[in-house]
Amino acid sequence: MAFGLFKKSPKKQETPVGPHYHELAIHDIIKETKDAISIVFENPTSGKLNYKSGQFLTLIANVNGKEVRRAYSLCSSPFVDERMAVMVKRVDGGLMSNWLPDHLKKGDKLKVLEPMGQFTTDYAKDKKRHLVLFAGGSGITPMISILKSLSTQEPESICSLIYCNRDIDSIIFKNELDKLQTQFEGRVHVIHILDNAPMNWQGYSGLLNKEMLVKLFERIPNWGLDKTTYLMCGPEGMMKNVDTLLSDLHIPKEKIFKESFVAGVIDKDKKDEQKAATSAGNTAHEVTIRYDGQEYKFKVEPNRTILETALDKGIDLPYSCQSGLCTACRGKALSGKVKLDEEEGLSQSERAEGYVLTCVGHPMSDDVVIEIG
Ligand SMILES: Cc1cc2nc3c(=O)[nH]c(=O)nc-3n(C[C@H](O)[C@H](O)[C@H](O)COP(=O)(O)OP(=O)(O)OC[C@H]3O[C@@H](n4cnc5c(N)ncnc54)[C@H](O)[C@@H]3O)c2cc1C
Ligand code: FES
Repeated sequence: MAFGLFKKSPKKQETPVGPHYHELAIHDIIKETKDAISIVFENPTSGKLNYKSGQFLTLIANVNGKEVRRAYSLCSSPFVDERMAVMVKRVDGGLMSNWLPDHLKKGDKLKVLEPMGQFTTDYAKDKKRHLVLFAGGSGITPMISILKSLSTQEPESICSLIYCNRDIDSIIFKNELDKLQTQFEGRVHVIHILDNAPMNWQGYSGLLNKEMLVKLFERIPNWGLDKTTYLMCGPEGMMKNVDTLLSDLHIPKEKIFKESFVAGVIDKDKKDEQKAATSAGNTAHEVTIRYDGQEYKFKVEPNRTILETALDKGIDLPYSCQSGLCTACRGKALSGKVKLDEEEGLSQSERAEGYVLTCVGHPMSDDVVIEIG
């Protein structure tokens, strides 16, 4: 994975610069539902940005005089769409998800960090597989990109999307999904599940449970475990539910891939307790970060993360969500011990290979060396 390359700066920069930041003009803003918009970007004058379906862009905006960055998955497909697009759904009381639809206009420019993320797959014409996608609400964003890429790039593969929403009006990309189902008839299956279904609703309604899932699995093709992979993205409750149901149906964990948009709800006291527990007896430890051909050494105080400390010192390390979800800050620990407050963003194999997330990472010894990039 290619991380951004940044120049060492004497103090924290309010407006980040560097070869991996881009200023993109807004080509269009599309109202998808009453609380969701798609932002379509012009390509940079230097040429299209490379990205994979399932990756996200980090949008950087100045909100009330402060730099705010948030991750938004790309809903466009690099194989199908001329321009990159993200979809933003309003979150109650949320800073960025409300600022963007309220302030952004066609023709404006927005700073972004290059596409990142590991929730991806490589496509090949001769692959023959079945992707079963579970999406809830805004979790459709990476899924529609994957669906478009798979259906156009792998003529022998098929895709089934199980998409949960509150009600019919909150289904994002409904028309586009209908079109894809028609265009790739027999290869793309879309099943909607609504919490509150209207009287004439032909589809499923209520909470997805084991009985319903068994019925759904009877409706979609069964290509056997070997050829099937399960992906999920949606609100925390929905993801936990699907995870439990798949495990009840004996789907092995290594067949299931997840993208989380929001960190598990941990109350602040518990988080502080966790941080205190990770601080190795309130001792500051030195870390060495290798990044962009440079080496940075600094002490990380107890209850501070490696990323927080680096940013305080004006070292522009890559980051996006700052909650251990998106992996934008991922690096490999070459030595020493690093404790993570939150491990959800890394797969078991990444952890085994020594990858860490600096935004939730604390050095537990003085010999920690982390290589980023
Ligand atoms: C890898 C990744 C990809 C993402 N892709 C998308 C995407 O395609 N579309 C999209 O709309 N969002 C996406 N998100 C979520 C997005 O980054 C923001 O977290 C979200 O827009 C809320 O930001 P905010 O500034 O409005 O809220 P904040 O001001 O940061 O938070 C306000 C409150 O809302 C809670 N909250 C934050 N996010 C959510 C959420 N998603 N659902 C419910 N409660 C939440 C917070 O815990 C907090 O209590 C993605 C996140 C990650 C990590
Ligand atoms: S910044 Fe997202 S995981 Fe660290």
